[in-house]
Amino acid sequence: MFPSFASALCSFVAAPQLRPARSRRNHKPRRLPTAGAALFFLLPLAVLLSACGGGGSNSAPIVSLGTTSYAFNAQMTGTTSAAQTFELANLGTAPLKISSIALSGANASSFTVTTGNLACGSTLAANGSCLIYVTFNPPSVANCAATVTITDNATTLTQTIALTGAGTPAPGANQTPDTRAAAMLTLMTQAEKLTLVQGGVTTNNTYGYSVPRGAAGWVPAIARLGIPELYLADGSVGVGNGVGPATALPSSLANAASWDLNEATKYGNIIGSELADYGINVNLGGNTNLIGREPRDGRTFETKGEDPILAGKFAAAHIAAIQAQHIIGDIKHFSFNDQESGRTLANAIIDERSGRESDLLAFEIGIKDSGVQSVMCSYNLTNSQYDCENEYLLNQVLKGDWNFPGFVMSDWWATQSTVNATLNGLDQEQPNQQFFSSLGASVTNGQVPQARLDNMVQRILRAMYAVGLFDNPQNIQTVPFAADAAVAQELEESGAVLLQNPSNLLPLNASTIKSIAVISGHADTSVLSGGGSAQVQPNGGGLVQATDPCPPCWAQVIWDPSSPLQAIKAIAPNATVAFDDGTNPSSAAALAQSSQVAVVFITVWSSEGMDQPSIDIRAIDQAQITYPGSQAALVQAVTAANPNTVVVLENGGPVLVPFIGPTNALLEAWYPGQNGGPAIADLLFGKTNPSGKLPVTFPMNDNQLPRPSIPQPPADGSIFPVNYTEGYNVGYKWFDVNSLTPWFPFGFGLSYTTFTMTNAQLVNNLNSAGNPNFQVTFKLTNTGTRAGAEVPQVYLGMPAALNEPPKRLLAWQKVPLNAGAAQQVTIEVDQNDSSQPMSYWNTTSESWTVSPGVYTVYLSNSSAPSSLITVGTLTVN
Ligand code: BGC
Repeated sequence: MFPSFASALCSFVAAPQLRPARSRRNHKPRRLPTAGAALFFLLPLAVLLSACGGGGSNSAPIVSLGTTSYAFNAQMTGTTSAAQTFELANLGTAPLKISSIALSGANASSFTVTTGNLACGSTLAANGSCLIYVTFNPPSVANCAATVTITDNATTLTQTIALTGAGTPAPGANQTPDTRAAAMLTLMTQAEKLTLVQGGVTTNNTYGYSVPRGAAGWVPAIARLGIPELYLADGSVGVGNGVGPATALPSSLANAASWDLNEATKYGNIIGSELADYGINVNLGGNTNLIGREPRDGRTFETKGEDPILAGKFAAAHIAAIQAQHIIGDIKHFSFNDQESGRTLANAIIDERSGRESDLLAFEIGIKDSGVQSVMCSYNLTNSQYDCENEYLLNQVLKGDWNFPGFVMSDWWATQSTVNATLNGLDQEQPNQQFFSSLGASVTNGQVPQARLDNMVQRILRAMYAVGLFDNPQNIQTVPFAADAAVAQELEESGAVLLQNPSNLLPLNASTIKSIAVISGHADTSVLSGGGSAQVQPNGGGLVQATDPCPPCWAQVIWDPSSPLQAIKAIAPNATVAFDDGTNPSSAAALAQSSQVAVVFITVWSSEGMDQPSIDIRAIDQAQITYPGSQAALVQAVTAANPNTVVVLENGGPVLVPFIGPTNALLEAWYPGQNGGPAIADLLFGKTNPSGKLPVTFPMNDNQLPRPSIPQPPADGSIFPVNYTEGYNVGYKWFDVNSLTPWFPFGFGLSYTTFTMTNAQLVNNLNSAGNPNFQVTFKLTNTGTRAGAEVPQVYLGMPAALNEPPKRLLAWQKVPLNAGAAQQVTIEVDQNDSSQPMSYWNTTSESWTVSPGVYTVYLSNSSAPSSLITVGTLTVN
């Protein structure tokens, strides 16, 4: 009865829709009439106003329940609203304990209730009222009804609210995010728009603020429109900040070392699902800085290595998996943020072509392949403009050339201005409103066009629609720690890299080994993790070092609770396994000497807010307080005492450890994460065959790097240049161009088995109109006696006239093979891929261009020139 009654009167009461909606803040709970007759009459009237798009509040039915009364007040925010708001008032004299509120659609074919949540907690005070937000999809159609069921501790009350009207349905989930965002934008007041473009933190104190849900940032909800709150939390290697205990994953670099994008998806999936379990809906992970420019950067562990294509593809896989959990993903720090020393003053100087073919290419791939919805601009300057107000980076490249539809948020307190920043492309200041609090005034006085503010809001809303924040209710629940830890272990096992095993000391034989010395690195209880904003509070609690290293002077050293010692004991139950903490090299050497095999754990802590003083562990140990003494001296003593020594590295990025002898084995375990102990044991004993490859070159010394020492900020705190004279020759490209031999090359990693790649052929489909590509085909054979996996890599030499480095990585494939098995493998390179595989950046046409000339295609198992197989050449006319 209500729908038709309401429809009939719809045009009669159309006027109220012009009234502005009331601000929730000024709204006081009202007592409503209780007469039964009024109830009968007022309900249809309230519904009618809503249905016709009225924004005002209306009288509502009052229903008695025991000694208490509830009232509903159905409001609608306009004919194109994506949400409905119901007001629930407690008219009784006692607080109500509400255990659930449920809504269901009475006409499911016309609309769907997709979200119903109680905004005011579980207790509704006497005389109190609260709003319930419900998102309908589509939100306003004729002849539909919602049933609201409220259950308090004792009783269930059901109230039907009919919704009818002739309004145009707001764009629903079947519409594009842009269409839906544009419709929502039309409903917003200026104050509401300004709320969305700034962080909700109310202090300028960099470290002392707190955000709900332990997040790093927060944007308040706009309740009357059903726009949810944003909770922004870090998550490069697992859920970060103070959100709660989480699964500490192996470092992001360790994941890139798997060279397996399926493992990257699993990695992103753990981060995304645990964020969702905690009710976080924006992830601040996605560190894609091309760290090969500065491998001593303290944040190397958060990144994906030195190659733009490898880094871009891994970033994209992480982000896509995170966004699949209805979380806004993020890629950062845009761009050229390659050192921590003086990061707010460093002015990266780079020419256009070099920038496009290096750091920016990694971002271009990461953004285009994942559909990421937010980009975090960095602290530093690029070519003398701060990155968070860098017209070239934000407006021209990101939003112009790449058509990025989402929003740009500042790194924390990286905003530099109001007008400049907004005009040059920044869409959201984080975590507070130091500059954007005056944005409203800047719009009023004409310095910032209204259209620009609208565009900022549109971008943020479309991000929220694109990942499904409006359509998928949050589901806060317990993290499945046991299952996630098992994935963390798999991720570590797929990313560890066997760097040296000259006398086949590894794998250790659990059934024959009699005694093992486990030395140093807190291996009796833990494995090391990286510090800073990416720090995860590991499940089970970490071992926390008493004194925080300085620099950075604010990050903790946390050891994840996973014991290699215990795992080794478990896997080799017949051996005597003893531990020495390594602080006295002589006692460690004595234990090593009396044991059949020694396993030494070398740990190198690194963090946001600091860089390593050197690649060389001798200089690192002098600067750090995580090991009291010299780990190089420890290695020297132990390897001298027992040639059967395995060195296990737990570190953030490339490091040189001298004194590893010709018979010693070396396993790069990175920061191994929540189940690092069992993962390392499985690798040492061959339960898992190592298959990782280095995603970053390990130099022999600092002099092999483009900048032997890291440029430091001047004492007066002024801006200082970091000249990227190496241009696009980053990482192995630099080593190739300068004919330098590193300690271990990019792409390198051993196995307990051996592989051959034979009969390599080039298939040239570059003239195929639909899918111009070339393929490298070959036979991969596991010539050893164990199952394992190899990562064949395809590199390309560009035409000589282009002055490119001798080769660039284009594609790879991780192939598992049983002992003795062979497989025909095809690796395809699509010329139209986001990685621009055959192009150079043409500064004349301002575009990616394939040059005429001869291209040489190589197949290899590392970037070492000696390992390249020339497959053939391609000629482009
Ligand atoms: C870091 C960002 C991080 C942010 C929030 C900044 O210090 O540079 O990577 O997302 O803090 O924690």
